[in-house]
Amino acid sequence: MELLAPQGGECILDLGCGTGYLTDKISTSEAEVVGIDSAPTMIEQARANYPNLKFEVADGRNLQFKEQFDGVFSNAVLHWITEPEKVVAGVWQALKPGGRFVAEFGGKGNVKSIVSALNNAIQAAGYPAINLNPWYFPTIGEYGTLLEKQGLQLIYAILFDRPTPLEDGEEGIRNWIKMFANSFFKDIPVDKQASMLANIENKLRPNLYRNSTWHADYRRIRIIAIKE
Ligand code: BEZ
Repeated sequence: MELLAPQGGECILDLGCGTGYLTDKISTSEAEVVGIDSAPTMIEQARANYPNLKFEVADGRNLQFKEQFDGVFSNAVLHWITEPEKVVAGVWQALKPGGRFVAEFGGKGNVKSIVSALNNAIQAAGYPAINLNPWYFPTIGEYGTLLEKQGLQLIYAILFDRPTPLEDGEEGIRNWIKMFANSFFKDIPVDKQASMLANIENKLRPNLYRNSTWHADYRRIRIIAIKE
């Protein structure tokens, strides 16, 4: 939000707004804001939460806005879209000349120990080592190149560790895996999953469990890029 620094009178697009929490925060700056999300259930919830704000169902890979926005903002979403060049093209098209793209998402090495524990458990149980990772976690160089090719000038970029406490106490990592990493288990029979999850927890506990709280080893990339 600080990097976006929205101003009154500006038009801002919140790409991947979820239930609208940050869209609402942006709107307190008096900027006009539109929240979009590909999940109709999220948009329904966002509209119920913030009936005075504008929300639309839209796919980040197929944005249809044309030079409407002073800023495009996105938090914790872009790592779910494995066709980043389509997003970047749509963001470029949505921005007015001189407009800014401000985003934070998972960067290279994000949730590294969780991914490694999942892969090890799957292989140890005799399942093939295929790539089950559903995420896009680029380096700054990779993402910067993509932005620059599209005509977005990268003026700020940082990759940083952001260990994040999880809710649910002892159940925290189990619930996180069930919610976000279920693709790793797609070929594993349900009756085998519980013991695999227990093994994964044991592997992760020394690094990620402290003071009765699990911590996800998030590593985030933050960027600001300007439409030339
Ligand atoms: C995150 O970095 O916010 C994240 C990464 C993978 C799954 C869920 C969240």
